[in-house]
This record gives sequence, structure tokens and C-alpha cells, in this order.
Amino acid sequence: MRLEGKKAIVTGGAGGIGRATSLAFAAEGAAVAVVDLNGDAAEAVAEEIRAAGGTAIAVAADVSSEPDIERVVQTAVEQFGGVDVVFNNAGIIRRTTAVETSVEEWDRVFGVNVRAIFLMCKHVVPIMAAAGGGSIVNTGSGWGLKGGGQAISYCASKGAVVNMTRALAIDHGPQGIRVNSVNPGDVDTGMLRDEARQLGQDQAGFLAEAADRPLQRMGQPSEIAAAVLWLASDDSSYVTGSALVVDGGGIA
Ligand SMILES: NC(=O)c1ccc[n+]([C@@H]2O[C@H](COP(=O)([O-])OP(=O)(O)OC[C@H]3O[C@@H](n4cnc5c(N)ncnc54)[C@H](O)[C@@H]3O)[C@@H](O)[C@H]2O)c1
Repeated sequence: MRLEGKKAIVTGGAGGIGRATSLAFAAEGAAVAVVDLNGDAAEAVAEEIRAAGGTAIAVAADVSSEPDIERVVQTAVEQFGGVDVVFNNAGIIRRTTAVETSVEEWDRVFGVNVRAIFLMCKHVVPIMAAAGGGSIVNTGSGWGLKGGGQAISYCASKGAVVNMTRALAIDHGPQGIRVNSVNPGDVDTGMLRDEARQLGQDQAGFLAEAADRPLQRMGQPSEIAAAVLWLASDDSSYVTGSALVVDGGGIA
């Protein structure tokens, strides 16, 4: 088991990619704190893990809030005895241009997609460093590496995630902490359907367009989870500061 005895935090753990990764971590032996704004859905994922014989707790939290992040880290330490792996994955998208985006929406996207990762690292890095190291994986996006239409705040925020990841890797490598980003493209989750709604587009047409890439299909959450598992585990022991693209060739 690739995460035997490890203690993990997964944010956005009730969503498509977060749930799949929480299940994958637990199946490989990790104790998982499933963190989500939607506490009931997080509890359902934790229960699914426990029913399969794994170890998990749910924590309802808004990752953009410093008191909530402090509580998440404290809870994981109290319940599991430490934190070895963090998957900073909670994210939101607003499909608007600069002209259409309010300052409040801009700040909310940056609060959830960017500030949350800064806050988590601020509070979890000292714990990992004291224990001799750890692995942090941040969810970027293909749109953190190239631009996309009608998603100005999202593209800016995911670009920040990719470069913040590199800066974190430089600062905390000497403490044995690896930090990488996973950059998915068009994965079959609630977020994609929400985008179709926001753009007022027909869902079937939107999803068909999402499949237009070299591998000719959307990704499945489990395929992102497999990449995150690799980055979280010692299998990637010499990998840090990297931006791993998992998108069926979408931005190739
Ligand atoms: N689905 C895709 O095609 C795709 C592509 C590239 C990147 N991503 C990224 O993958 C990550 C996961 O997205 P997903 O596709 O699984 O979407 P999703 O909507 O299924 O899951 C996101 C989860 O984050 C939670 N969340 C939202 N705001 C939160 C907050 N403030 N605090 C705590 N939890 C919060 C939601 O409740 C939800 O459970 C996001 O960062 C997203 O930007 C997704």
C-alpha cells in the first residue's frame, strides 16, 4: 500500500476529483480528513471510506477562512497524530470576462482557489517540517498553463496556483516537503455541468465539446486521483515544483 500509515487532508473532498482522491488515498492505507464546504457530502465520503474498512473523518470548512483552516489542521493532528499529505483541491469557477466580473466574485474565486492554499501551507508546513517532511499537491488546471475564454478570475487564480506551487517547493524542499501541482483538463464532475449552466449552454453539447482532444473523451475523476496518488506517495520522491498535466492531451 503506497500510503500505509500516512495521514492526509483532502479539500473539496466531497466533489468529483476530491472524492475520487479521498477514496484512492484510503484504499492505499492513508487516514483521510475529507474537508468540504458541504459537510453532509463530506461525511458521506468519509462514511464510504469507513464502510470499505478505511480510516476517515469529515470536516465541514470554508477553505478560504483562516480560522477554518486552523481547525482543519488541528482536527487532523488530534485525530490522526500528524499530517503527511495534503491535497489542496477545493475550487470554484466563474465563467465571466473581466467586464462581467464583480470585485466580490473576483475576490471569492481568489479566496477559494489561491488564498486557501497559502493558508493551508502556512499552518501545515510547520507540522510537516517538524515530522521530517511531507507531500503537498495543489489542483491547478490546464487554464493555469494557458488561457481560456470567459473565465478571467479562474485563469488568473489557477496561474497563481501553478507558480505558488513552484515557490513553495523552493522554500520548503530543504525541510523535506515536496510541493507539486496537478493540472486536469475537462474531467466529468459537477463543475463542468455548472459551467454549462453558467454559460447558458446545452449540457450535452458542452460535454461533447469537452471531449474534443487527442484522447477524444473527458477525463474521469479516478484518472486525476491516480496522478495525485503518485505525487503524494514516495513513488515520486524526487519530484517537486512540477506541474503535471492530466488532460488527455488537451493542451498538448
Ligand atoms: N472538472 C474539471 O474539468 C476540472 C478541470 C481543471 C481543474 N479542475 C479543478 O479541480 C478541482 C476539483 O474540482 P471538481 O471538478 O472535482 O469540482 P466539484 O465542483 O465536483 O468539486 C469541488 C468541491 O469543492 C468544494 N468547495 C467549493 N468551495 C469550497 C470552499 N470554500 N471550502 C471548502 N470546499 C469548497 C465543493 O463543495 C465541491 O465539493 C477544482 O480546483 C477545479 O478547479 C477541475
